[in-house]
Amino acid sequence: MGGAHGGDPVDCLGLREDGWQKEIRDLVLSFLQRSDSLIEAATGNGTPLFLFEPDVMGERSRAFTDAFSSHLEDFQAFFAMKCNNHPDVAREAVKAGLGLDVSSGLELQTALETGCRRILFSGPGKTEKELELAAINAARVTVLIDSFGELERLDSAALKAGTVITAGVRLTTREDGLWRKFGIPLSSLGEFLSTSAGKKAVRIRGLQFHTSWNLTPEAQVKFIERLGKALGTVDPGLIQSLRFLDIGGGYWPEGGEWLLTGELPSSPGAARLRGRERLSAAPVGDFAREIAGALKKHIFPLAPLKIYAEPGRWIADRIMHIMVSVADRKADDLVITDAGTNIIGWERYETDYVPVINLSRPSLTERPCLVAGSLCTPHDIWGWSYFGEGIEPGDILILPNQGAYTWSLRQQFIKPLAKMITIED
Ligand SMILES: Cc1ncc(COP(=O)(O)O)c(C=O)c1O
Repeated sequence: MGGAHGGDPVDCLGLREDGWQKEIRDLVLSFLQRSDSLIEAATGNGTPLFLFEPDVMGERSRAFTDAFSSHLEDFQAFFAMKCNNHPDVAREAVKAGLGLDVSSGLELQTALETGCRRILFSGPGKTEKELELAAINAARVTVLIDSFGELERLDSAALKAGTVITAGVRLTTREDGLWRKFGIPLSSLGEFLSTSAGKKAVRIRGLQFHTSWNLTPEAQVKFIERLGKALGTVDPGLIQSLRFLDIGGGYWPEGGEWLLTGELPSSPGAARLRGRERLSAAPVGDFAREIAGALKKHIFPLAPLKIYAEPGRWIADRIMHIMVSVADRKADDLVITDAGTNIIGWERYETDYVPVINLSRPSLTERPCLVAGSLCTPHDIWGWSYFGEGIEPGDILILPNQGAYTWSLRQQFIKPLAKMITIED
């Protein structure tokens, strides 16, 4: 076994973009500058931990709303709870003026408990029980209906609850392939609106679509154009009852997508071989401007609708950080942490790059090292390098900005789940 230092320092692990390298260093520096308070947060709680920053949740929520509201008169964002389902996160979203977008009865229950008064319930295959829960909370819940069958079931649930519920209909963005499981085809919109006009307990007031993983607004803009054409063929009398268009989520955060490239190295010292690349993402202001432009051109002349959006990742990625400790050091370039990636529920860091920062031995130098978790699977990996002046058992490592699709995917597999603690500024 070597000395306290890990593998040779590496200034640039296959980075192709100087600007990106600087961004990574700035990010690392911003965490090193507050390493004392972060380590203090771990003291008494132990690791692994998720550190939640409510102030960041508020800032991101407001920034998203401001970006769209500067182009659209009537805009409302709903935080997509699937992205991070901790109740405190939902509460902060509501405090910042957002509604909540839920995709199951479980999420709906949590959303109701926050006191939120503006809840969208979307998703395929809603059960009768879930529809009943929505119906008895009709004053606070708008159901985004996924099919003709679900329209019938929601009508029955609302009749049973003795209420009339506001609803919208989800439109599929792809009529072929795996995405066809969501919503109804655009070609059925007229039929859906006329069928629903005959329902006693459901009032259709809106339309919804969603495209995922958008690095630019191109997919949303294209669908808005298709929707405008389809609306042009529908009886204007049916369109008149519509009040909102929900343009879904899928806005990639402005830092872009950070990916590892190349083969998974297996031989000792091979961690240094891993390259990485960043896929750029448009700033949220560009999403807002281009989507608003498309709406003004293709939708508003036919129907002056209020616009809803369901951002998850854009808001949640920076709100939580993952903290783990080094449990074992097996070689200069191989350490095992006390936690497994079961705390995030998937093998994210086989493909995604995130700087692993050693708060206990702070340094802006990045060293190659396989930072593995403690599950009985070789796919349990946190990273292929760390920033630090060496790495030793007991050291505290942080993975910054990991709030999206981690906490809500955690699974009880071999190792315990992580606790979440709140850190204030
Ligand atoms: C219908 C719907 N709305 C919103 C979202 C949130 O997407 P994102 O977290 O990428 O913004 C999703 C994600 O799958 C979704 O399916």
